[in-house]
Amino acid sequence: MKIAGVVLAAGVGKRMNSSLPKVLHKLHGTTMLQHVLNTLNELKPQKIVVVAGKYYKEIEESIIQTNPPIPCPTDDRRAPLLKVGTTRNRGGKVGLLRTQNSKLIFAQQKEAKGTGDALLKALPSLSGFKGTVVVINGDTPLITRETLKKFLKLHENKNDVISVLSFMSREPDSYGRIIRDNAGYITSIIEEMDATYLQKNIREVNSGVYAIESDALYLLKDIKLNKIKGEYYLTDIICVARDNGIKAGAYCIGSEDEFIGVNTREDIEKARQLMRHRIIKRWMNRGISFIDAASVFISSDVRMGRGTTVYPNVHLEGNTKIGKGCTIYPNVRIQNSIIRDGAVIRDSTLIEGSVVKDRAVVGPFAHIRPGSKIGTDAKIGNFVEVKKSVIGSGTKASHLTYLGDAKIGKDVNIGAGTITCNYNGYKKHITAIGDNVFIGSDSQLIAPVKIGKGSYIGAGSTITKDVPSKALALSRIEQKNIKKWALRRKSKVKS
Ligand code: UD1
Ligand code: CA
Repeated sequence: MKIAGVVLAAGVGKRMNSSLPKVLHKLHGTTMLQHVLNTLNELKPQKIVVVAGKYYKEIEESIIQTNPPIPCPTDDRRAPLLKVGTTRNRGGKVGLLRTQNSKLIFAQQKEAKGTGDALLKALPSLSGFKGTVVVINGDTPLITRETLKKFLKLHENKNDVISVLSFMSREPDSYGRIIRDNAGYITSIIEEMDATYLQKNIREVNSGVYAIESDALYLLKDIKLNKIKGEYYLTDIICVARDNGIKAGAYCIGSEDEFIGVNTREDIEKARQLMRHRIIKRWMNRGISFIDAASVFISSDVRMGRGTTVYPNVHLEGNTKIGKGCTIYPNVRIQNSIIRDGAVIRDSTLIEGSVVKDRAVVGPFAHIRPGSKIGTDAKIGNFVEVKKSVIGSGTKASHLTYLGDAKIGKDVNIGAGTITCNYNGYKKHITAIGDNVFIGSDSQLIAPVKIGKGSYIGAGSTITKDVPSKALALSRIEQKNIKKWALRRKSKVKS
């Protein structure tokens, strides 16, 4: 079965009351549109056409920006850079889509003249395609691959020319009702606004998913304007088909939880909760322990290894990968980062765009800023900030430290209060520290500076020059003890 997908995303989304286009509202870190595209892409379509409207530019940008590669300084064999497929259509637009190499094409519906008109605008991008066109509304983010596959199988087995996926709704008001004849065939889809009192009682509704054979797409041109709404309804293709002697199928195989169409902010919150349950359940089934799953947020792109434990109030965002047997303690936020097997992220830590290698321990209260790499068995302790720095294996910075633009070797000890002074007001400079160095507490390393292998920096030093390997560098002034000074001061104050 050859498939092409069309996602309708050109609606204005008035009911959201937002300046952001509706389909770009996010659910667990991913836009509604991208959720639909990801699911559709799993059917391995030959191409996907996204129909965008007034917010064409924003929609195109959002897809291109999805899942940026993880920004690491020295990258890493196992970094999960996503495969990207690109294409250029006749309109000269570039599309990017993650995973397989499906082609993504953008079509424009300049004025939101209804779903029927939107699909019509996709036709030039479908020319030359022969097969089944799967049409999906861009505001149904919870749709699953399994249901779509089941639907397409039914469509194929029944030799349908047009089919609609339907579901039973507890609150059908915002959906088109499925009208069937006595033999059970679908004869039309009626929107709430056009429905009679009796039709309003029907609970079987249109999900907004259709399978249409490419040969039947010409029927779209016969859809008449709905005068009440001033739109061309795609749903009217059923009546047009019937008038042309073509029977349509309607398969009630969806569930309301999967086909919630997001029109309002209330709907998006409902969808978010449903997706949250789905994500947490998936990770539980894959061997993740949650101490309080209800307080944990996991983006849909996050991946985790078996035996990892997640404590309350943890946020795992973006393209984050957590290895096996990790422990993520309470109040941690990890964004677009890789945490390797056995690593421990202690309480109240923020990790952004970085890699934490096997068995490293980070936190509590640590901030790992983008472009950092924390080595195997390394330790980054409380109130330590690391920015765009490589920390070697076994290296420890346990307390109150700033490491910025630093390249630090193996088994280095960074004393409490150490600061790499990487910025002179104009430029950032590098601090390079060799293996087995010992940096005494409260030292400032004024970059650019190199600290040679195995050397020592005396506590309280301000280092402005390179330090040779195995040397001791000291820059503090010698201590002076003034005997009985305190007694003399006391008598002075009294008199
Ligand atoms: C639509 C269906 C309804 C179905 C419901 C399922 C029609 C007329 N009604 O209603 O039967 O039960 O979806 O969720 O189709 N769009 C465009 N261009 C437009 C208008 C809309 O691309 O001119 C896009 C929107 O961005 C959206 C999708 O089409 O992603 C559906 O539009 P929406 O206005 O939300 O339709 P509903 O009223 O929900
Ligand atoms: Ca809708």
